[in-house]
Amino acid sequence: MASGAGSNFQALLAQIEAKRLNAVCSFLIVNNKNCGAAQIAIANGIPVYHISSVTHPDPLEYEQAFLDVLKKHEIDFLVLAGYMKKLTNSLLMHLKNRILNIHPSLLPKFGGQGFYGRRVHEAVLAANQGWSGATVHLVSGEYDNGLILGQSMVPVFINDTPDTLAARVLVAEHNLYWKTLRDYAASLGY
Ligand code: GAR
Repeated sequence: MASGAGSNFQALLAQIEAKRLNAVCSFLIVNNKNCGAAQIAIANGIPVYHISSVTHPDPLEYEQAFLDVLKKHEIDFLVLAGYMKKLTNSLLMHLKNRILNIHPSLLPKFGGQGFYGRRVHEAVLAANQGWSGATVHLVSGEYDNGLILGQSMVPVFINDTPDTLAARVLVAEHNLYWKTLRDYAASLGY
């Protein structure tokens, strides 16, 4: 699931393509049908589902739309790569402990509601942190909460801007996500 530029999604696909990550990407769910991630999925022949409060204004239909996708495609893990909406309870229950998210900070620092994308890096710089980084964690009902599966540290430089820091953290994200997914899946016997 993604709704941004899709660089993490692309990085995961590249590891699958290189056969370093033994996986198949069955589908992509987006919250915004014009996002970069959707374009990447289309270019790779991956089915894209657009589910949002615009496509499904009725909350029950919204919730059902996710379950319909899961009914159609049997999956082992749901991977959030720049997906900013809270997941529905039924989705969380359906895939308990098998939904992963990546966050551009060293959680639990700079996480929670309101901390996403650029805002995270602005907050890290405002707090004069010497280090930032990326975290992969299991998704629980709360924003950026849930068991931490992997982290990668990135230095913060004195002349960093939110954009330069974001770019450095993004590289760490791309290196961290597939390895963490691989190791977590292996720990569950996949
Ligand atoms: C990534 O930095 C990801 O960690 C962040 O959104 C960006 C998406 O970039 N996610 C969050 O902030 C979640 N709270 P991408 O679309 O290029 O992968």
